[in-house]
Amino acid sequence: MTATFSAPKGTYDLLPPESEAFLAVREAMAAPLRRAGYGYIETPTFEHTALFERGVGESTDVVSKEMYSFTTRGGDNLSLKPEGTAGVVRAVVQHRLYAGQLPVKLWYSGSYYRYERPQAGRYRHFSQVGAEALGVDDPALDAEIVSLGAQIYRDLGLTQVRLLLNSLGDAECRPVYRARLVEFLSGLDLDAETRKRIEINPLRVLDDKRPEVVAQVGDAPVMADSLCDDCKAHYDLVRGYLADLGVTWEETPRLVRGLDYYTRTTFEFVHDGLGSQSAVGGGGRYDGLSEQVGGPQLPGVGWALGVDRTVLALKAESVEITAGAGCEVFAVPLGAAAKQCLVPVVADLRRRGVAADLAYGDRGLKGAMKAADRSGASIAIVVGERDLEAGVAQVKDLGTGGQEPVALDELLETIEKRLR
Ligand code: HAM
Repeated sequence: MTATFSAPKGTYDLLPPESEAFLAVREAMAAPLRRAGYGYIETPTFEHTALFERGVGESTDVVSKEMYSFTTRGGDNLSLKPEGTAGVVRAVVQHRLYAGQLPVKLWYSGSYYRYERPQAGRYRHFSQVGAEALGVDDPALDAEIVSLGAQIYRDLGLTQVRLLLNSLGDAECRPVYRARLVEFLSGLDLDAETRKRIEINPLRVLDDKRPEVVAQVGDAPVMADSLCDDCKAHYDLVRGYLADLGVTWEETPRLVRGLDYYTRTTFEFVHDGLGSQSAVGGGGRYDGLSEQVGGPQLPGVGWALGVDRTVLALKAESVEITAGAGCEVFAVPLGAAAKQCLVPVVADLRRRGVAADLAYGDRGLKGAMKAADRSGASIAIVVGERDLEAGVAQVKDLGTGGQEPVALDELLETIEKRLR
């Protein structure tokens, strides 16, 4: 016997009816971006591994431990994309989109892959909707990006999403801060691996969740105290715009993101009902990323919202998200001639924008009516041999059970009138 297969570890299948919530969440994330002038971009599922090494950063867990990397038959080293920003910047540079009007505003929606330890809310294949705005370093643009994210969660009906905000400085002030931090961390009692991490990226040590580390880094210097004048001015303006936009946030000087390209404004949206995987979205400014991947100087700011975790957050808050129209009309043919009559009726209803379905498989009346009930439709059209002879269809209200004959040539109009 052939072995049966199941989806690989850390992945899951999206099945109806739950899959409707995913579609609705993606749509709720995309619609405000389109209204704000973001154009849709789709980049390949895989990119050259070096793009992520240089863009996202070799020292990050995402690149050093979590990438699905492979060598092609032609000898190329490729990786499934663990995130969307590097590929978008690569495409903007490759197609010289920066030569046109600035900022270049783009949004995307897709699958991402990280070989993480799976747990609730953390998967190896997950889904993000993202937004990137490139070409200007206007603090008002940081505020637009952040407030769009906040608005999306609010419009979805979520009340337990908090916005954590920080500034990570830039190429001028970060090295000064880094030196201060390294000096502080070097004086602590840390294991060898953590000591090594201090050399590679000391900021990440601040993100360590182990109690023995947390207990020691309480007095560590924070970036906010080391910001240069330009970064400070930028951050003050971002916060001013956010306040004007009615966005509330929590100043989080220890906020460290898992990707290396961030400069200045960084933020995370967290939800308190999700346990340890509380980040439902995150992003920030990445003014050096383009040059890092061989492009021109091109500042940028953006975020990615996790679709999977947002769906979990909706569940945690018991928010029902209205899915697309389910079945409205269910046709029940009794016999071959009735089926011949109803197949085009269903197609005509659909053409008129009515969600309609038919009892396929020549079931008897009882089984077909059960299917009609299960479909969620409010109206059933039942046609038997005697109805055909009389030129009518029985239109049944599945709510009240009431039924009346309607002339076949008035059927479409009658049903439309009843529904609207
Ligand atoms: P990120 O914080 O790595 O940022 O991911 C954004 C969101 O994707 C997370 O907040 C989370 O909701 C979701 N996510 C990440 N990993 C997983 C996983 N293993 N399972 C389920 N959900 C996950 C980025 O990816 C940046 N590219 C965001 C960005 C855009 N920054 C600037 N522009």
